[in-house]
Amino acid sequence: METLTAEQASGMEREEFVRRIGPIFEDSPWVAGRAWQRRPFSDFAELRDALTEEMYSASREEQVKLIKAHPDLAGKAAVAGELTPESTGEQASAGLDRLSQEEYEAFTRMNRDYRERFGLPMVVCVREHDKDSILRFAGERLANSTEQEIDTALAEISKIATLRLRDLIQDTDTR
Ligand code: GUN
Repeated sequence: METLTAEQASGMEREEFVRRIGPIFEDSPWVAGRAWQRRPFSDFAELRDALTEEMYSASREEQVKLIKAHPDLAGKAAVAGELTPESTGEQASAGLDRLSQEEYEAFTRMNRDYRERFGLPMVVCVREHDKDSILRFAGERLANSTEQEIDTALAEISKIATLRLRDLIQDTDTR
């Protein structure tokens, strides 16, 4: 899909805006739906800020639901080819689609340990990582409290969303 300008995105009806921009937050189109009310957006940064502010000002319950919308890394959905197009590309960028049996087992253990401790999927901005650094980062995060982990996951989702938005919207400013 060709990239849009922030100005073009500002001119969209709610439905189209949510259809195009909504997927930057995994299976959570309500974030884009709320941000749409804050148009017009003069540039990429303003649009990104409106989107992330809606994520941060949502209720804790909504934030937890957003975190839970993420699939496990190298998990069952990934193996079955059932990820969103965005997640498929991201997981592949860190090499998670071509793990050895040993590595696959390490990810399975990591997903299980993390879920047992926090009741959440381990969300990380995988495009900033490789497979070893993901496992290291996950190991460190197991020492956090659940509240700290919710905050860490939201910060990672904000990075994921910014990278996904950059694939859709021209980022011409230098801020
Ligand atoms: N980080 C970027 N994409 C994903 C994803 O699909 N799942 C998880 N757990 N983290 C991610």
